[in-house]
Amino acid sequence: MSALEEIREKVDIVELISRYVALKPSGKGYKGRCPFHPDDTPSFYVSPEKKLWHCFGCGAGGDAIGFLMRIERLSFREALERLAAELGVELRASGERQRLLKVNAAAAAFFHEMLGAPEGRAAQEYLLSRGMGPETWDRYGLGYAPSSGDALLSALSRFGLADLERLGLIVRGDRGYRDRFVDRVIFPIRDELGRPVAFAGRSLSGAEPKYLNSPNTPLFTKGTLLYGLDLAKEAIRSSGRAVLVEGYTDVISLQVAGIREAVCSMGTALTEAQARRLARYAREVVLAYDADAAGEASALRGIGILLDAGLEVRVAPLPEGEDPDSLVRSRGVAALHAAIAEAVEFHDFLLELLPRRFDLSSLRGKEEALELVRSLWEHVKNPLLRREWARRLALLLDLPEEETWKALGGKLSWKGVAEGEEGFGPEEVVLKFMFAGKLGADKLSQLAPEDFSPEYRRIVCLWLERCGEGKAEPHSISSELDLEEQARLSRILLWDINFSDEGRALEEAWQKFFVIPRLERRIRALREEMERAEKAGEKEQLEELVREYVDLCRSRAKVLKGEHGG
Ligand code: UTP
Ligand code: MN
Repeated sequence: MSALEEIREKVDIVELISRYVALKPSGKGYKGRCPFHPDDTPSFYVSPEKKLWHCFGCGAGGDAIGFLMRIERLSFREALERLAAELGVELRASGERQRLLKVNAAAAAFFHEMLGAPEGRAAQEYLLSRGMGPETWDRYGLGYAPSSGDALLSALSRFGLADLERLGLIVRGDRGYRDRFVDRVIFPIRDELGRPVAFAGRSLSGAEPKYLNSPNTPLFTKGTLLYGLDLAKEAIRSSGRAVLVEGYTDVISLQVAGIREAVCSMGTALTEAQARRLARYAREVVLAYDADAAGEASALRGIGILLDAGLEVRVAPLPEGEDPDSLVRSRGVAALHAAIAEAVEFHDFLLELLPRRFDLSSLRGKEEALELVRSLWEHVKNPLLRREWARRLALLLDLPEEETWKALGGKLSWKGVAEGEEGFGPEEVVLKFMFAGKLGADKLSQLAPEDFSPEYRRIVCLWLERCGEGKAEPHSISSELDLEEQARLSRILLWDINFSDEGRALEEAWQKFFVIPRLERRIRALREEMERAEKAGEKEQLEELVREYVDLCRSRAKVLKGEHGG
């Protein structure tokens, strides 16, 4: 049994949650007021049997570890460590982590020392020329990797080559090991507790790449950390706002200029994991990306990811061609503060961007504009905002509002089987039966992950895999899900619904979720094939297609009337 499984088995989820929430027995489980949103009607459920919790008000949910992560704002690792310690479960490899952290700390100290040494002169001058003085070097632990190529290797050899290599500090070449970072200014990348877990080296000589980063190591996975968060987290927590920028120097410039909530995603596109990490501290994120085409593209991608993490998003207008760091240099701290203060809501940003990007008087331009807005549409969960957005877009594009609304994808959720329960539709009913093992082999065998909406796809994949291994149990997959997926799963598992007629409810949901959409996909495809066959003058082929088409349309009509024959 893995440590994770042992923790899951041993943990008393009701006792754990009771430390934070007053729980009252209710049915097979417990009920209380959700600690994650203002909750007047108790909508928070805990199931000791399933060892899961879910709030039907705000949609948060998951297992014991997930609860601890949210309530104490811990990372997965931290929550795991805490529960392991309480339950007396030993976590393998934590000794190794400690050892590697020590090596990295020594490397950071070495680089820092070299910046102060005579060979660090050029690096010092470079940093000074960019407005970063000795106080900043200390605060950010900045350093210098000497040009000899084996400076770190010989200074830290006492830690052993194996660990230095695993941490990406040295690399094996034709003539043995050498330093990864050579003649570069070093920016240590620290975790939230301020421990250096990786490094970035800015080239001084113009050598490519401009920034060389540590590879993935046991201490560092790309796309999970945010640079600067160790210093920014308290400021973000107290203002509820984070300022997201693109580069290391932007973070430092902003923080030094007094905008202490600045962090960056380190060159790679913002990831879901990073957005969730921010959401542990912030309510709102202000994007201050480079004012160029690349920055605009990253902003558009970032907005959707941030919205999905439940964050509000604004975008700061920087003057053309500037990044936050260059703005401070060229126009001063006040200009930077102004840009942050003038940040506009993401939907205004998008509407302002459209006329610059597209010719909105042409049909093509209108379509492109719709396409761009559509790419963010599903991330906007607020129905009022959707209405408002569609209304303003309709004005901008000079289109009827209803048409714009439809072109964007329209309404939020389907209300069906469980009338009145927002967000539970045929798909959820099918999932409910599936997770309860009541779907039936014939239906199960027809299903593919692609039949489900994207937000369920990974969950279903894992589930179907486990079914193949004969151990399909909702619990067995939850350790492989992230927080949002856990919430989606627990929402369905703890959805307290009694169908008056289970067989009928399933059949109805199955038709709506599976049979009809498949029929419709096939019918659409047939229409295209018919068109093609007609143009090509393939008469026989066409007749056959028409026959199938008519058949399918008939079955569809039957299904829609409710006479499902199977
Ligand atoms: P920029 O090229 O905008 O760098 O890349 P910058 O921070 O403004 O750099 P300076 O001011 O010229 O020193 C933004 C971020 O993308 C990542 C880094 O995190 C950088 O800060 N990046 C960029 C890399 O990881 N590697 C690269 O080669 C370039
Ligand atoms: Mn930049």
